[in-house]
Amino acid sequence: MLGNFSYHNPTKLYFGDDALQYLNDELPKYGNTVQLIYGGGSIKKNGIYDAVTKILKDNGKTIVEDAGVMPNPTADKLREGVQIARENHVDLLLAVGGGSCCDYAKAVSVSVNCDDDPWDKYYIRFEEPDCAIVPVGCILTMAGTGSEMNGGAVITNHEQKLKIGHVFGDNVMPKFSILNPTFTFSLPKRQMAAGIYDIFNHICEQYFSGDDDNTSDYLAEALMKSVIHSSLIAVEDPENYEARSNIMWTATWALNTLISRGKTTDWMVHMLGQAVGAITDATHGMTLAAVSLPYYNFIKPYGLHKFVRFAKEVWGVDPNGKSDEQIADEGLAKMESWMKKIGVAMNLSELGTTPEMIEDIANATILLDGGYKKLDRDDVVAVLKASL
Ligand code: NZQ
Ligand code: ZN
Repeated sequence: MLGNFSYHNPTKLYFGDDALQYLNDELPKYGNTVQLIYGGGSIKKNGIYDAVTKILKDNGKTIVEDAGVMPNPTADKLREGVQIARENHVDLLLAVGGGSCCDYAKAVSVSVNCDDDPWDKYYIRFEEPDCAIVPVGCILTMAGTGSEMNGGAVITNHEQKLKIGHVFGDNVMPKFSILNPTFTFSLPKRQMAAGIYDIFNHICEQYFSGDDDNTSDYLAEALMKSVIHSSLIAVEDPENYEARSNIMWTATWALNTLISRGKTTDWMVHMLGQAVGAITDATHGMTLAAVSLPYYNFIKPYGLHKFVRFAKEVWGVDPNGKSDEQIADEGLAKMESWMKKIGVAMNLSELGTTPEMIEDIANATILLDGGYKKLDRDDVVAVLKASL
């Protein structure tokens, strides 16, 4: 652990098949008006909406509806949510959904009491909030992003062809999150797979950086093994509570700031995936899956020692009699076969990306330098072409 850091995570979690009842403990801490944020209607079909609104009413809350948060929430929708919150003087933003609803709630929370346009302030100028922040609570219905216990809020601007994440500080993280694994049972299999790959890649993004002996890497390996194990059970048996609960818990720990301590962290798969999302609006986890193998093959020579460790520790590759390149390749081959088993997109064409889009995607890709090789624009184009 050669890095210098502080660590604090203020989000209170309630986990398990009885977790929703603890909303009763949280609601009295906030004022009367609750902005109920949700997506395209899945919570009305699976009964979660009725269960949540009953608890809100039992606690005497006034409910202000904010429905229709789309996957990859947009800057326009964000402005609409801010307007709703201002007009109704809301006291709590309660997101009921996946990462999109949780992210959106955080973006609204830092914008309600601020005069600037939220997109320009937080996503172009990358300023930090300098106004009162409305508290956020999450009731999670999809495991993947870790948004329930972090400060991330990713917003898409279709006019500007940009999808950008702002990672806010502790003061923006949800005050509480409710994680009931049975709430994820109604997810379509494709969304479940996208979430599983998102979890796995969050861990990779932090793991594939640095050369020191670091506790974060050992934690990362344990989390990766858990998600691989449980995902193979869940794809066969989506209502297996043990597997789905492990996936949900792993998702939270994959991106709640713990395993990034002491790491420079890479995040280039996400930068590529987000750029693909900006142009195609494809499902987040699928965009990551489609670019991952070409990206990892590209950076492998620069971080070979870590790919060897990944192969041995995560994928159980026997190193005997093999060169480092062979061990690393065998690890990535095992990862590829796992990705196919869980059913994620293996290339960008499957997601509607055409060769003509590559330039726009490359323009939208933010270049970071925490990993084993800083990509330049030509490298980005090469990886994208190899992902088609
Ligand atoms: O909108 P509804 O009808 O609710 O349907 C949603 C949506 O269509 C559906 N769904 C969610 N729970 C369900 C369900 N359907 C049936 N049963 C349930 N229990 O799933 C679809 C996808 O939901 P969404 O919230 O978009 O998925 P996810 O959790 O993957 O969130 C994606 C967003 O999070 C951002 C992504 O970029 C993307 O915008 N991310 C946020 C991060 C963070 N805060 O740290 C990090 C991630 O890397 C990611 O970038
Ligand atoms: Zn992600």
